[in-house]
Amino acid sequence: MTMPYERRRAPAAEPRPDANTLARDVVQGLTSNPKTLPPKLFYDARGAELFERISELPEYYLTRAELEILRSRSGEIAELAGPHATLIEYGSGAGVKIRLLLNALESPAAYVPIDISREQLARVASELAAEYPAVDVRPLNADYTMPLTLPPLRDGSRRLAFFPGSTIGNFHPMEASIFLRRVRRTVGKSGALVLGVDRRKRAGILDAAYDDAAGVTAAFNLNMLARINRELSTDFDLDRFAHRAYFNSKASRVEMHLVSLAAQTVHVAGESIRFAKGESIWTESSYKYDRARLRELTESAGFRLDRLWTDAKKQFWVAYLSAM
Ligand code: AVJ
Repeated sequence: MTMPYERRRAPAAEPRPDANTLARDVVQGLTSNPKTLPPKLFYDARGAELFERISELPEYYLTRAELEILRSRSGEIAELAGPHATLIEYGSGAGVKIRLLLNALESPAAYVPIDISREQLARVASELAAEYPAVDVRPLNADYTMPLTLPPLRDGSRRLAFFPGSTIGNFHPMEASIFLRRVRRTVGKSGALVLGVDRRKRAGILDAAYDDAAGVTAAFNLNMLARINRELSTDFDLDRFAHRAYFNSKASRVEMHLVSLAAQTVHVAGESIRFAKGESIWTESSYKYDRARLRELTESAGFRLDRLWTDAKKQFWVAYLSAM
């Protein structure tokens, strides 16, 4: 007997990035001038772990400073957001920061963690669903640098986007503005955004934060090549690339590179990629913002800067932004 139509499961809200997407990103980056690889490629399971270790390094002040602000301001955030908010987190990672908001908010309705690291996302989402039975937890395994579709939500009240960690700093300012405009559309005219941003500061502090003494950031940077070797059967020789990170003051960004220690050729998806000795692959920018630039950025995206908080050492910003 044939059914009039086939009953199907709702399709996953976003297909998971596959080897083709990875190959396309890698070939595109390595055939550009200068050579680049996008920072989203850091976060395979091993990379997510290494980032957790970075966030505990003495030199890497960002996570601690942001947690300090969130701890002291979560009550104010909850008051501004009001009851029954739907939280949408861009880059949910290990799920530490969101607990501060979920604990402070009045009866949060739903939580949509979005992350590119599939394993970590699944684990964190099921932990949170168990801890917060009243909250509708809807994980979305996606690359949020691309436009995305949220899972269907029965939310009537305010949408509160949460984009912590200064990950906004990984976008060049023009892309950051475009990205925030998408967030603005996603939260709607009654929505808001809690944004974590690293402050511009002395080069010495920034250089150390991205080139730590224990070499964890170097391992994190090089892991991108190990990951590409594994998933695309490429032949990067990890002994012939070195981690380099420094604050580019003119552009107000920390740049991370992998520098080729020799003239060499690497084979990627049928292409031969030549490296001169000393040539680098630019793997990440971390833009650092002063108050004026941050205001300019957020207003360009349709947000009003309602509150701007910092930590005791004035190292980091957390902004509460509402839709204009
Ligand atoms: C994940 C964007 C917060 O740019 O500081 C840490 C990633 N890179 N060390 C940053 C990172 C090198 C990080 N964010």
